Amino acid sequence: MPGTHLYSDPEIYDILHAPGTADEVRTLADVHRRFASDAPKIALEPACGSGRYFPGLARRGFEVHGFDANADMVRYARKAAAQATIRFGRFDTFSTAGLKRRGEGRVGLAFCPINSIRHVASDTEMVRHLKRVKSCLHPQGVYVVGISLSAYGLEMPTEDIWTGSRRGVRVKQVVSFIPATGDRTARERAEQVHSVLEIRKGRNVETRSSSYTLLSYSREQWEAVIRRAGLRVVARTQEQGRAYDPGEIGYALWVLGRAN
Ligand SMILES: C[S@@+](CC[C@H](N)C(=O)[O-])C[C@H]1O[C@@H](n2cnc3c(N)ncnc32)[C@H](O)[C@@H]1O
Repeated sequence: MPGTHLYSDPEIYDILHAPGTADEVRTLADVHRRFASDAPKIALEPACGSGRYFPGLARRGFEVHGFDANADMVRYARKAAAQATIRFGRFDTFSTAGLKRRGEGRVGLAFCPINSIRHVASDTEMVRHLKRVKSCLHPQGVYVVGISLSAYGLEMPTEDIWTGSRRGVRVKQVVSFIPATGDRTARERAEQVHSVLEIRKGRNVETRSSSYTLLSYSREQWEAVIRRAGLRVVARTQEQGRAYDPGEIGYALWVLGRAN
């Protein structure tokens, strides 16, 4: 019996997040073509979850690698995406085996969408993570990070609703986000996330509730960790890959390259 946290039930996670994945894969491949065409078609997804991007990227000719800190997700992703190399690993300590050759990074397209990177516990862990990804990046490679920025004190609680279905299982998730209370310590910067899942199988309805936190970043804090890691901003886009600057608040794909 899986736990109540969404990540401990990869099949349910995958049902919820499958819609739209083909479009996201197209955007990622397009970002590689526009900003990293001199870098190899080798992709790395930190926090890859159920591995939903890997089959699509492999079909587009990418060699695919990923890691995740949840063993259930890793097991599921290995079955769902046999073409990928998927390891158990954490943001700041993941294995770089196969991602470098003679000390040089091989990865042309690293990516971490939908705020997953905000699962880091602190700025120190974030900088270690970004440096580790940088060490695997080909000199012309890019790291595409999907992140929502915070304007502390100005944000209101918000709610998202996700739905999906597969083979007679219908899933709905209502997620509430309670903004950070301050801009200094990791504790103040913790955005509270509360999830209620409703899973329908025939006449059976199961409800699962869980909570977790995500570390918040103002634009200044986010740009500071990018610099500290020796990366630079190559472009910012909206979810479909069109140029877009989110200003102080909101979600964008940040295309990062090596500063040196
Ligand atoms: C929202 S899911 C995203 C999965 C996938 N990237 C996607 O877009 O569908 C976030 C993932 O981050 C993983 N995660 C959380 N903390 C992590 C850490 N410290 N290191 C690596 N993965 C982590 C979770 O296990 C989960 O699979």
